[in-house]
Amino acid sequence: MSAADREATITPYPDGPLLVRGAVELRTTEGEPIQPRRRTVALCRCGLSTIKPFCDGTHKAAGFRTDA
Ligand code: FES
Repeated sequence: MSAADREATITPYPDGPLLVRGAVELRTTEGEPIQPRRRTVALCRCGLSTIKPFCDGTHKAAGFRTDA
């Protein structure tokens, strides 16, 4: 079983994105599929990424902090 076939997991990265691993389907608010581009997907949770829903690393420069 490949990593892409396994049950999806979502792991908060400290002071950063949500890391999504496994088989998931990403969709826009209109329901259109979003290609994940990678096996592990980093979803922005700071709200500052220019490539939402993906993280582009802006959280670091912005000093985004989380509790987890
Ligand atoms: S969490 Fe990385 S840019 Fe928002």
